[in-house]
Amino acid sequence: MSFKEGFYWGGATAANQCEGAWNEDGRGPAETDMLTAGSNHSPRMLTYQMPDGTTGAIPRTGGKLPEGAKLAVLDGYYYPNHDGIDFYHHYKEDIALMAEMGFTMFRMSISWSRIFPRGDEIEPNQKGIEFYRNVFKELKKYNIEPLVTLHHFDTPLYLEENYDGWNNRKTIEFFDRYAKVCFEEYKGLVKYWLTFNEINNTVMFLELFGDKATKEGYQRAYQQLHYQFIASAHAVKMAHAIDPDYHVGCMICGITFYPGTSDPKDILLNRHAWEKNIFYCGDVQSKGKYPTFAKRLWKEQDVQLDITKQDEQDLMEGCVDFYTFSYYMSTVVTTHAIEDKAGGNFSMGAKNPYLKYSDWGWAFDPEGLKYYLEMIYDRYEKPLMVVENGLGAVDKVEEDGSIHDDYRIEYMRDHIKEMGNAIDNGVDLIAYTSWGCIDLVSAGTGEMKKRYGMIYVDKDDEGNGTFERRKKDSFEWYKKVIQSNGKII
Ligand code: BG6
Repeated sequence: MSFKEGFYWGGATAANQCEGAWNEDGRGPAETDMLTAGSNHSPRMLTYQMPDGTTGAIPRTGGKLPEGAKLAVLDGYYYPNHDGIDFYHHYKEDIALMAEMGFTMFRMSISWSRIFPRGDEIEPNQKGIEFYRNVFKELKKYNIEPLVTLHHFDTPLYLEENYDGWNNRKTIEFFDRYAKVCFEEYKGLVKYWLTFNEINNTVMFLELFGDKATKEGYQRAYQQLHYQFIASAHAVKMAHAIDPDYHVGCMICGITFYPGTSDPKDILLNRHAWEKNIFYCGDVQSKGKYPTFAKRLWKEQDVQLDITKQDEQDLMEGCVDFYTFSYYMSTVVTTHAIEDKAGGNFSMGAKNPYLKYSDWGWAFDPEGLKYYLEMIYDRYEKPLMVVENGLGAVDKVEEDGSIHDDYRIEYMRDHIKEMGNAIDNGVDLIAYTSWGCIDLVSAGTGEMKKRYGMIYVDKDDEGNGTFERRKKDSFEWYKKVIQSNGKII
């Protein structure tokens, strides 16, 4: 296997799922702070308050806020993102553990509302700026390269409530200001940036959001995406102007789609699934223009987009330098009746009889990763990074404190092997940051027990625990993988 010299090995997190300290040092709230914990079978809820003081909760997926309601934190509910895994106060300890594993890259995100608590201010919050500077300095101490996501599911709540968030062109301006501050403040400390995490989710998972998959829902989703594409393109241009050493990438939720049968209708459906779910965003961000099939997608849903001539120019001038994606699973699409559905949070389509599934219904398909890597590299010919991958599983702490997570080792080993095969076939893969290298709050379910880490964190689904960190068996295994640059897996 041929991981090149200097291949980046590491792990990935997101601010809203690990930092905690949700209202400390001037940070403003994001929607993720209003989310309760759910499970594989019950959705996370958004809590709200009416002008008359009455309160309630709606499911995040498919729920509709009553007229006049405002999202609110209520007594009697538990909000797992409020304390996350308290990375805010543990970052030195956590980074030391990552360094011990031999990390050369750490993917993290900046919480926008820590820098601009409301989102529309002119002056940033100095305490927020200082926090990330300290984190980057700590990483530098160990020669760990940060890979920084500007937006990971956390638009400031104030912008959502007062400007209708990404449905409003004005939000691009606020994002521009935020991105500029980050690029200027962290010059010399950061080299790699990502603009929007899993930008394609907006359209890909629309069907999972109940009544939002209407023509109006698609209109909003495609328009939001367009504004995010512009914001992303502005960020790329700005980053290059501020520091020619900056590299900016896109981040796509990577799922490998397969047709359920050889029925030509399934083959076409599968191609369309790739186009709508994967290529649509990747093409705009990597090639700087909408692909031909975009017209078909818009026509199917009667979508009319607000796109200006200036936008078209911005997209062309703001192509990303590299392409990154998350990869957890593959899925099956078919026009035929589905007898066995893939269950679980954020997994969709038919169950694949040739694959094993995790406890959360996600298909275990390492070859699907190779398929994705080769397909995407051929399409864009830009360096690739796998910036999320891993197994969400329940871990057992033995009486002596050890955690034997051989299932996680098996999952990562098989995926790393396929990355090596893709490299041997010519793919320019430059980094692997496994998801949730340290246990954190699940984005989909809000659970702690859906653990991905090689570092265990003592916190449960009700928020009990000491936040103590502990090494799992996968810790020592991953250390050897990194030491041998992927030779010993
Ligand atoms: C990706 C997200 O969708 O998958 C992460 O970028 C998320 O934020 C990860 O945590 C795993 O999903 P989950 O639902 O298991 O946390």
